[in-house]
Parts: sequence; C-alpha cells; structure tokens
Amino acid sequence: MHYTGLIERYRERLPLPADAQAVALGEGRTPLIELQNIPRDIGFDGRIYVKFEGLNPTGSFKDRGMTVAVSAAKHAGSKAIICASTGNTSAAAAAYAARAGMTAFVLIPEGKIALGKLAQAGISGCEVIQIRGNFDDGMRIVRGLSDAMPITVVNSINPWRLQGQKTAAFEIIEELGRAPDYHCLPVGNAGNISAYWMGYREMGPKAPVELPIAPEHFDYARTQVCDNRPIMCGYQAAGAAPFLRGEPVLAPETIATAIRIGAPQSWDYAQAAVSESGGWFAEFADEDILAAQKLLASREGVFCEPASATSVAGALRDIRQGHIRPGSSVVCTLTGHGLKDPDVAIRQAAADPTVVDAEPAAVEKALQAAL
Ligand code: F0G
Repeated sequence: MHYTGLIERYRERLPLPADAQAVALGEGRTPLIELQNIPRDIGFDGRIYVKFEGLNPTGSFKDRGMTVAVSAAKHAGSKAIICASTGNTSAAAAAYAARAGMTAFVLIPEGKIALGKLAQAGISGCEVIQIRGNFDDGMRIVRGLSDAMPITVVNSINPWRLQGQKTAAFEIIEELGRAPDYHCLPVGNAGNISAYWMGYREMGPKAPVELPIAPEHFDYARTQVCDNRPIMCGYQAAGAAPFLRGEPVLAPETIATAIRIGAPQSWDYAQAAVSESGGWFAEFADEDILAAQKLLASREGVFCEPASATSVAGALRDIRQGHIRPGSSVVCTLTGHGLKDPDVAIRQAAADPTVVDAEPAAVEKALQAAL
C-alpha cells in the first residue's frame, strides 16, 4: 500500500479530529539499523541499533512532529506558523508550511545555524528572521508574539509536536517486537526524549506512578502492545548541559549547534522520563561528540549530524563504564542527517583529497600509495 506518512499510519493513536487532512511528506518509517562493527570493536555482546531519523523528508526527526502540528493548525483555520529554531525545526516548519500553503516565520540565531538547514529554510521561501541572540532568546520572543498575534507556534511547546514524535517509539517496538532495554537520545529543548517516553508508555505496561503531565501530552490511547519499557538516557553537550547543572545555562556553547540550548522548554517532562524509567542524564565534550560522528561514518557508513552523534557517544561510554548492562539491547536516535552540517564534516574529514592528472598511470600511482 502507498505509504503517505505517519498520520495515516497511526491515526488511531493521535488525537487529531477525524476530518483533519494530513499535511504529509511521507515522514516516518525510518530505518532501525543494527550496528555491526562498533559492538565487535568494543567487545559488547548486546545489540546496538540506530534509529536513523536523518532519513525523514527534511532530514531530521522534526518532520514527525511538524506533520501533526501543521495538520492541526491548518484544520483549525490558522494561516501562519512561527518557531524559534537551531535549524532543523525551521527546515521542517518551512517545508510543511509550503506543502499546506501557509506562511512560516522562523527565528534562528545569527551565525549559529548549520549550512544545510539555512539552505532548506531559504529555498522554501519562508520568512527567515535571524536574531542577534541564541535559541532561548528566540523561544522567549516567539512565546510573547504568539499571545499577541494570530499565529500558531510550532515549537514543541505545541502539544501536537510531541504527539507526532512519539510515533518513533511505536516503530521501534514494531520492529523489535518489544521496547529496547535502553534508549539513548541527544537532549536540547527536551521535547524528543519526552515524546519517546510518551510513546513507550502508551505501548508498554501501565506506569506505576502518574506523571505530573498535562493529559493532552500523554496517554492518548493506551492499548498495551508490549510488556517492557526502556531506561531513558539523555545526553547533552557539556557546554549546553542544563540538566546536569540542575538549572538553565545562560550562554550555551557547543559545536553541535542543534542542541545549543540553555533553557529547555520540556524540562519537567524530560526529568520525569528519566526518573520514571530509571535512567540518567550525562554530558559530553565536543571532541567526544565529533569522535562518535566520525566513528559512525567510518565504521558503519552512517552519516549523522554532530548533535545526533551525542546519543552514540553516550551509549558507548555507558557501555564501557558498565552503566549499560552487557547483553542488553540499545537504541540510539540519530536525530538528523550528516549533510545538514557539511562544514563540520569537511573539517573532520580524514585528509585533503589527492589531486592527480587525468591519466591512468597517475591514478594508479595514487592507489599504490594508499594500499
Ligand atoms: N538533534 C537534533 C539534530 C536537533 O535538531 C535537536 C533539536 C535535538 C537533537 C534535540 O531535540 O530539542 O527535542 O531535545 N533541535 C531543535 C531545532 C531545537 O530548533 O531544530 P530536543
């Protein structure tokens, strides 16, 4: 059957009005790739999978939330959407607004957006506003403006976003036949870890404790389909690690610009996901994040953006340190595609390309030098 996107696939588990038309681009149904070389390299006898969300239509997991948020906004008669973004949300908002025939306004931090994301927002013709500030400043402005103007906020404070993003957990359970033992995620604004936990809760056994969470966010359709839930591990960049500090970080800084966030909006939900699941937060230096990005590309052929690699940096360290048990199953979400941030990738590339004359002998010499 022709796959149109996650709304039609999971409509009975999404609280959209029955007559809401899906604004869809075939998002979701992303591959769950089992790592083959890295587990062997590190002597891990369990299984490590990556959920490659970089293969969504705009190259990140944001499409899952955006299809639902924009469909709901359009159904409600909204003509314009707005978001603050470190880049991926703006790319998704721009694309789904174009698809829906709506106007999108995106606020992004000047000079701190990866090139691919800037290109995506630009080509769509949405209104790009660069602010002299960071994501948290943009978020504050968006919240204020949306109270004063008839415009729908599509950041993850919009509950439809988390509803859409929870479907990634559904897909993982369908593929594995159960939830993994551990689920590792990069944490920025903290919406995604909250959404996954929502998805796992809805599919798994009833939670022993009710979360202090608004009903529209959680527990829409509780039909249990598996009998376990994962331990949730939230990984942050050390320069932007408010969950490790226990308070907002005023001037967040990291090469992983997607998660350069100091005041996460879904703070309580993410705390609840981690504590209820028996999980933890941890932080990683930029060098560790970049090393994990390169390791994935060079040992497994999977190219994700720096922020995404934080999940793998975390999983590998926690396996090594024994926090993640031997023999267990681990899923790491790779939130965005490597091509989003070509500048960082090129800077990490192994070496400058060899340049030779267009002659067989010259190429052969170059091959022999490398063999
Ligand atoms: N990874 C990538 C590639 C992201 O773009 C983001 C967030 C995250 C991880 C963190 O997810 O915020 O749900 O904890 N990007 C947002 C944006 C903030 O504007 O694109 P989170």
